[in-house]
Formats: sequence, C-alpha cells, structure tokens
Amino acid sequence: MTSVTSDVYGSLPGGHRVRRFRLQSESVKVEIISFGCIITCLETKDRHGHFSDIVLGFDDLEGYTNKHPYFGAVIGRVANRIAKGTFTVDGKDYLLPINNGPNSIHGGLKGFDKVLWTPEVVENGVKFSYTSGDGEEGYPGELNIWVTYTLVGNELVLNYKAQTNKTTPVNLTNHSYFNLAGQRSPNFNDHEISIDAEHYLPVDDTMIPTGDINPVEGTNFDLRKPVNVESQIAKLQENGFDHNYCLKESQKEQTCARVYHKPSGRVLSVRTTKPGIQFYTANFLDGSLKGKGGAVYPKHSAFCLETQAWPDAVNKHQFPNILLHCGEEYNQTTWFVFSVE
Ligand code: BGC
Repeated sequence: MTSVTSDVYGSLPGGHRVRRFRLQSESVKVEIISFGCIITCLETKDRHGHFSDIVLGFDDLEGYTNKHPYFGAVIGRVANRIAKGTFTVDGKDYLLPINNGPNSIHGGLKGFDKVLWTPEVVENGVKFSYTSGDGEEGYPGELNIWVTYTLVGNELVLNYKAQTNKTTPVNLTNHSYFNLAGQRSPNFNDHEISIDAEHYLPVDDTMIPTGDINPVEGTNFDLRKPVNVESQIAKLQENGFDHNYCLKESQKEQTCARVYHKPSGRVLSVRTTKPGIQFYTANFLDGSLKGKGGAVYPKHSAFCLETQAWPDAVNKHQFPNILLHCGEEYNQTTWFVFSVE
C-alpha cells in the first residue's frame, strides 16, 4: 500500500502556493513538489533496513527557484541540447534561447523545471499537468503535458504524456542526481554501473552529437558489464560521462541500467520505453551550491540517468524521431526500481 499525503511547500514570488506530495511504501519514501515536478527527497533502505535520502537537492523552495543544475526536475519541452538552438519544422525555422555555449539546453531559459504544475492525487501517486503555450521558449504549438509519479512497492514509475496542436519536438525526462551512499557523500567512487547498450553518441566540443552512432565495443564507453565508476571515469580521459547511450528498443519497456553500491547494498535499476539514456556523472558540479542539510556537492558526487530521446534528434534525421504531430499522443514511461543486495 502506498500512502499519499501533501502539504504546502512554499510560495512563489507572485504568491502562488507550491504543494509537496509524499508517497510512501514499505521500502521507499519520495517527495515531489508542484514546482518543476521536482523530486526533492527520495529515501530508500540499505541492506540493514536504514533509510537514507539518495538524491541531491535543497532545503527550501528558494534553492529550486534560483539557478541550479536541474536537481530532480522534469525537463522539457526538449531535454538535452539542440544545436545552435535552431530547427526547421514544416518548412518553418525556429530559434530557441541559447543557454549553453552556442546551443539551447533543457527547454530554454524557463523550461518545465521552472514552472508551476497543477497537481491531482491519483491512486498510489500524483499527476501533474501543465499547458505550454504556442511559442513558449520558442517552440511551436500549444502542448498539454501530464507527468504522473506513482510508487508501487519498490518501483517509482514516471509516466509522461503530451498532446500538441502543431508539430513540435518533444523529449521529456527527469533530472535526478543520485548517490546511493546518501546525498551528503562527497563522491560515488564505490558505485558499479552497467548500461545495456551496444552504441553511444560521440559529441563535438560543444557537446552536440556528431551524428555518428558508435559501437561501445572496444572503447571505454562499454558499460555492458558492471564497471567501477571511478576507475571508468579515470580511463575515459575526459571530464566524465555525459553521453547518450542508444537503447535497443523504442516504445517498448526495457531494462537499460543498473547501479550497485556495495557498502550499503543499494541497487537502482532503470527500465524505460524511451530510445536513449544520458549517463551524466555530475561533471559540472563544483561544490559551490548549498545543498540539503548543509551538504556540498563537488564534481562527480552524483550521477544522472536521464531516459530520453537522442540529443539534437530534431536536426539529425538518422536519429529516432522526436516530432509530435497534432492528433498524436506522446506517451513514455520510466521505472526507477530500488532494491538491496
Ligand atoms: C547534460 C549535462 C548538463 C547537465 C545539467 C545533463 O543532462 O547532459 O551536459 O551539464 O544536464 O545541465
């Protein structure tokens, strides 16, 4: 049985109330706020039955309304980067806000992580809805979005639905930063990861996919068998992982990633219907943010597993389609499954 309770989390500068929803099962407790659909707290058990909060975040609403690296939030209208912030749909060129080097990232200046959603309690969870106006952050068409979080036993299920009245790119994800040792831990060196993907997308120096779809075989991107995160980052000779892995299926539920933290026994497994997953090792955290309970978050102190469409797909026709047309429904689901070993 999952209990769902709610309270007021805070107020936005205009006076609008932000609500917080607590979903609790035998083994998992999660808190989600109506601002940005942000997961502010996620507690799971270690092998001795002790709960710890395993996601990075802030103690209050101000932390989330300030600029921050998308802790826990739903990202849209298009997660990850669009090259030079431009694309063409139905013969018309669109220009988005440039907010990451020469590119547009994570929905623009005020993406779905920075808007107030309308919540509704549903069985085992909460459903948030938002209408993104035609032209909002430069995107075409009015888009209605529904994001539903449900907790069933040890599975946190995120379902994303959207409908548009004009053709538009859509790519929704959740940007939680996990550390299975607990959110105050200074690194995640003792985590093991595997990602079930034969291919990944190499990127240029502005982090845009080059367009090649490279095999992981014989490279340091090969995560098909579990590897220690710290030693794999060291081998990579890059800032860390920040790459899209190309999953085998699209629109079909598949297990795509597994992270194991031996000292606590915590395991996170990810399933999704989406065609890709961004493995990001928090390369741009630098310890300057004041996190929950006074925590500081240095570089490589967490990891993100952002299930998604492939970055810059709107400009790369060899990548799986991300255009949603009038009359169609975007419907994708990701499962975060927590266990111990
Ligand atoms: C991107 C990173 C970026 C981070 C925070 C991730 O999805 O891949 O490059 O730094 O989000 O914006």
